[in-house]
Amino acid sequence: MERLVIFGGTFDPIHRGHLRIAREAALRLNADVVFVPAKMPRWKSPEATTEDRLKMLKLALQEDGSASFSIDECELKRPDETTYSIDTVRYFVKKFPNRELFLLIGADEVNKFDHWHQADAIASLARILYVNRPDIEIDKNILKKYRMISLDFDGSGSVSSSAIRELKSIDIPSKVLNYIETHDLYFMKRLHSYLGSKRLRHSLSVAHTAYAIARKNKVNDPERAYIAGILHDIGKELGEEESNSIMKENFPEFLSYPKFCHHQFTGSYLAEHEFGVKDLSILDAIRYHCTGKAHMSVLAKIIFSADKIEPTRGYDSANLIKDCNENYYAGFLAVIRANADFLDGKTGGVDSNPLSQECYQQYLNKGEKK
Ligand SMILES: [Fe+2]
Ligand SMILES: [Fe+2]
Repeated sequence: MERLVIFGGTFDPIHRGHLRIAREAALRLNADVVFVPAKMPRWKSPEATTEDRLKMLKLALQEDGSASFSIDECELKRPDETTYSIDTVRYFVKKFPNRELFLLIGADEVNKFDHWHQADAIASLARILYVNRPDIEIDKNILKKYRMISLDFDGSGSVSSSAIRELKSIDIPSKVLNYIETHDLYFMKRLHSYLGSKRLRHSLSVAHTAYAIARKNKVNDPERAYIAGILHDIGKELGEEESNSIMKENFPEFLSYPKFCHHQFTGSYLAEHEFGVKDLSILDAIRYHCTGKAHMSVLAKIIFSADKIEPTRGYDSANLIKDCNENYYAGFLAVIRANADFLDGKTGGVDSNPLSQECYQQYLNKGEKK
């Protein structure tokens, strides 16, 4: 008997963890998997519209799906406000009378299953398949009562839809990321409240350039480059009063630095306190993206470079981008050299503040000549 796994969820948005679970379920059970986007579950209200969630689901399957994956919009088409799993399971029994059905649920739903509408009927029509989670202790009585089976899979990663919405992860297919960016969903909405369209475009371009450099150089957790890139100028459009007050309270030692670089400090403050970034390497990369400094981390070098060479900057930076993609360190040195030449022609030059001074001294040996 052919098998079908019903994978319901809000998919707000779909992420690679969902896809890894679906692939594992298909493989282990030798089954097809049907994604069933939920209309409006009783326990949470989705942030994106039904249309957007469905489009992202389709894009994800287009890019990263498998021949055994499909989407069924039965729940979205149902006229009722609330949809119940039993109705969905009955729909599939009717649609595929000769298939063995499995209903995939999360570990967090197992212990609540007793309270599901017509739980007994669901379990009699479909075998309940749940995904383990190390942080959740499963009630063994419930497993026995409903004859649930475990997918026993720990490779789905730590990604979650809320992590995507909050810019804590971008473990999603690139077409989904592109959809979020171009339709102003989730974190993009928040970024808009800090940045005008032009600067947001620059920030996105830095994020993509940095992400590509990090991946091509096989840097660990290349997502960090995207997150640091998209947030690097988040402090740039703050009002003077707010900027000064953040500087005075948090970075008094840099208050006397030229105004143009204050935004790197206020930006790292906002990334931490407004966007919940805890990763110190991301905060550090934002904090020194403008001045540079001595002993920069790999990520800081990549963000510094990407900020100067992203393709919307308005000059031909193709060679510098190529250099960075091939070898981030050699590329960084080329970028810093080009930047020093550029700044030398301007008032202040590269020695306008001690951080830049020590940066250029270390990486170009410039200070020694002066
Ligand atoms: Fe900047
Ligand atoms: Fe920038």
